[in-house]
Amino acid sequence: MAAYNPVNNQNNASPYGSGDPYYNESSGFITPHAPPKKRISNWIKFGIPVLIIVIVAAVVGGVLGSRKSNNESSSASSGSSGTAGGAAAASSAASAKLAIGRFATATDSKYMVPVYPSTTNTAAFTSPTFIASTNSKIAWPEDPFKPASPTVLSVRTDRPRLIAPTYKWDALPNLIANDPYLKGWNDTIFGNATEYFNLPPVVYFMDGDSGILDNAREVKMRIKAFAYAYRMSKDTKWVDRAWAEVLNAAGNGTTPFGPDVDKWNTGHFLDAAEFSSAFGIAYDWLYDMWTDDQKVAIRSTMIRYGLQPGLSTYTENASFGWWRNNITGNWNCVCNGGLTVGSLAILGDDTTGVARQLLGFTVDNAKDNCAFAVVDDGSWAETANYWYFGTTGHAEMASALLTATGSHYGLLDANTNFWKTGQYHMYVFGPTSLFDYGDHGPNKFSTTANSMFLYADQFEQPSFALHQRDQHDAAEPWSMFWYDPTVSGAFWDGAPLDHFFDNSLDQWASMRSSWTDGDALFVAIKAGRNQGHQTHNDLDAGDFVLDALGTRWAGELGSGDYRATAYFLSEAQDADRWKYYRKMTEGQNTILVDRANQNVLAAPSVKHDTSGTTQGSSTVINIPGDSTAYWTSDLTSAYFQATSVKRGVRLLNARRQVLLQDEINAQAGVQWRMHTNATVTLDGTSAKLELDGQTMEVSILNAPSGATFSTTDAVRFSTDPTPPVPDQANPGVTVLIIDLPAGTYNLQVLFNPQWPGMSASDFVTPPSVPLDNWSLTSHN
Ligand SMILES: *[C@@H]1O[C@H](CO)[C@@H](O)[C@H](O)[C@H]1NC(C)=O
Ligand SMILES: *[C@@H]1O[C@H](CO)[C@@H](O)[C@H](O)[C@H]1NC(C)=O
Ligand SMILES: *[C@@H]1O[C@H](CO)[C@@H](O)[C@H](O)[C@H]1NC(C)=O
Ligand SMILES: *[C@@H]1O[C@H](CO)[C@@H](O)[C@H](O)[C@H]1NC(C)=O
Ligand SMILES: *[C@@H]1O[C@H](CO)[C@@H](O)[C@H](O)[C@H]1NC(C)=O
Ligand SMILES: *[C@@H]1O[C@H](CO)[C@@H](O)[C@H](O)[C@H]1NC(C)=O
Ligand SMILES: *[C@@H]1O[C@H](CO)[C@@H](O)[C@H](O)[C@H]1NC(C)=O
Repeated sequence: MAAYNPVNNQNNASPYGSGDPYYNESSGFITPHAPPKKRISNWIKFGIPVLIIVIVAAVVGGVLGSRKSNNESSSASSGSSGTAGGAAAASSAASAKLAIGRFATATDSKYMVPVYPSTTNTAAFTSPTFIASTNSKIAWPEDPFKPASPTVLSVRTDRPRLIAPTYKWDALPNLIANDPYLKGWNDTIFGNATEYFNLPPVVYFMDGDSGILDNAREVKMRIKAFAYAYRMSKDTKWVDRAWAEVLNAAGNGTTPFGPDVDKWNTGHFLDAAEFSSAFGIAYDWLYDMWTDDQKVAIRSTMIRYGLQPGLSTYTENASFGWWRNNITGNWNCVCNGGLTVGSLAILGDDTTGVARQLLGFTVDNAKDNCAFAVVDDGSWAETANYWYFGTTGHAEMASALLTATGSHYGLLDANTNFWKTGQYHMYVFGPTSLFDYGDHGPNKFSTTANSMFLYADQFEQPSFALHQRDQHDAAEPWSMFWYDPTVSGAFWDGAPLDHFFDNSLDQWASMRSSWTDGDALFVAIKAGRNQGHQTHNDLDAGDFVLDALGTRWAGELGSGDYRATAYFLSEAQDADRWKYYRKMTEGQNTILVDRANQNVLAAPSVKHDTSGTTQGSSTVINIPGDSTAYWTSDLTSAYFQATSVKRGVRLLNARRQVLLQDEINAQAGVQWRMHTNATVTLDGTSAKLELDGQTMEVSILNAPSGATFSTTDAVRFSTDPTPPVPDQANPGVTVLIIDLPAGTYNLQVLFNPQWPGMSASDFVTPPSVPLDNWSLTSHN
């Protein structure tokens, strides 16, 4: 299927080959992105949308049985065409939205994921879309600043110029009154700001190799909240509190804040960049409240400790500027992003020329590097957790450039596949938590998934916004300006349950039984390269996670100790990084041969297929009996002592059971390993896992001679080389293993979650089929 790509005005072949079921141009779910940002003609605004809104209003009114909505929709449909009818219909849509409210109003307390109510109330949750409207109660006005030929150095004349220009602040109260999400987030931001108000300014803490990054992000988080609260309430107590935070982070408060020569720790430049961003926001959002002296002070501190060192990285090749040299990862996004936000904030007031010079470097550099941290299938080149840091830096930078100067200069579309990273985020998010392979990153503070709102808007992917708006981290100031309240429908409506990411860097699969059921089955598995992820990866080809019954049965151990010696130094075969349990192959849910790490140069291949099952409008999905998906990989190149290692995983029995199959021919001992928080009861070729009041039965089918389950602790073998500093403990984690001598094996492990109401006879025992023979019907 050829898909029209509006970016290059060409019909592009699907990157997944012809007939790819995920490249659906009509569903509005996974479509090629539109150029940032399509403008709708007035004719369309007042013509066709009236019909859409009338239909939506009628449907919603009917569903909710609201007399008011019914009355309004009928008055809208009887209204004459043009503005009058449009206004009535838009007001009807607005009241219908208020009536629905926020859909997922609770989060799972353990995993903080949204709890979606079970409903077959299908009519309210239709295809993701943005309803065209000019009604100021439900839609943002257009930005009056539209330079014909934008340049980085020509900024709008009104303040704020960053992310939230005045026209947006003016529109916001009306939108809040008519949008339950904005209303809830506004309340939460005020609540959070009040909490921070009562705390002392952030206390300087130098955290080894992680520097003062936590400090920087916490200061930024607070300043955003204080500045937001001031602008919405005009209460100057927020300005005073923001100033106290600024003074403190400048070392001019009552407690010391770092050494005078380098307060923002430029050696770990993320810190200096995030402080620059925080000071930029303070400067710009509270511009009218600062005295000239305060402005001079903010500028001088930002230039001295952030921008000038940043400029040196470009002009003098300062050693701490390594992140600008071919780094496609979060460092490039965060460093260029912070320097850009800071520079844009003071451009024009800055008499040193530093801001102007920096903008001549950062924008192009981020376009060439940061923008390419998304590979062609949408995966973030580092890890699922580092996606948050990278996209937050990227989105802040793109948004600040758009609002301040009228263009993003290619940051959003120099990489024509960038838009797919929203899709990556949705698929890497399971019913309980992320497929959290590799390093997890530092504390997030000001880092969220709210780039999804900007990307939804800029790439016209409404499902991104619909997915994010129910998440626990949605309530923060950026969301108030990036969220387009005309978004409507349900992200799950029409969403394929499975997706495969095939770029050789990652090669991973996401397969589930529902998008909205917290108890759903979810399997995610990866192959990919063991290098090339900014040294945030593990030696983990074949690694998987498994969710079912609201808990994670096979999980990840996460980051090692970032302060551990040589943790980030190298990803060569003999690197110290690979001596830490959480990073070595032993610490992964995969096959271990000869008790040895995988080859860092592994280059696996993968195959897969899916029934293409999509969820419908309802949060209750009935899975057809033949609905399945599978993914197989040839992992041989990852092993030194094996002639062949292949691994496959498939969903069985209408996505209620999972088969994991390994075909191994090894010249040294083999171990099948899986890390679990469950309590494990062993019984030969079967094991009972119990966790969170639920049960998972695991069994070895057609067990080769000698293949039984046993368990071990999540610690290194005594024969392993000793890492520079001791490993972290993994309390509560048990490793379920199958331990075998050298030989040729077909290991088939069946996972049967004990679903409520399902009896033993409802489970299937699949036939034994070689991986090379797997097909959609091979296990029927
Ligand atoms: C935002 O939230 C604050 C605190 O709850 C409230 O006082 C204020 O009225 C809200 N703003 C709007 C526009 O509703
Ligand atoms: C903001 O407030 C909400 C609601 O009380 C809370 O759940 C959340 O943790 C707070 N967020 C931060 C970053 O403090
Ligand atoms: C902090 O103090 C230094 C030294 O007096 C001054 O140069 C700088 O402008 C001050 N910055 C702030 C934000 O107060
Ligand atoms: C910095 O390094 C780059 C690439 O190695 C080189 O092209 C450039 O001339 C250097 N600049 C300075 C000021 O040394
Ligand atoms: C940048 O990285 C790419 C991909 O790893 C590599 O092919 C290229 O040679 C690198 N360029 C420089 C200047 O290091
Ligand atoms: C154990 O539970 C913790 C907390 O939910 C989670 O972070 C970790 O990934 C789990 N470990 C495994 C092996 O599932
Ligand atoms: C696997 O497929 C091959 C080629 O289609 C076929 O010859 C062979 O019989 C199949 N083996 C099994 C066990 O199904």
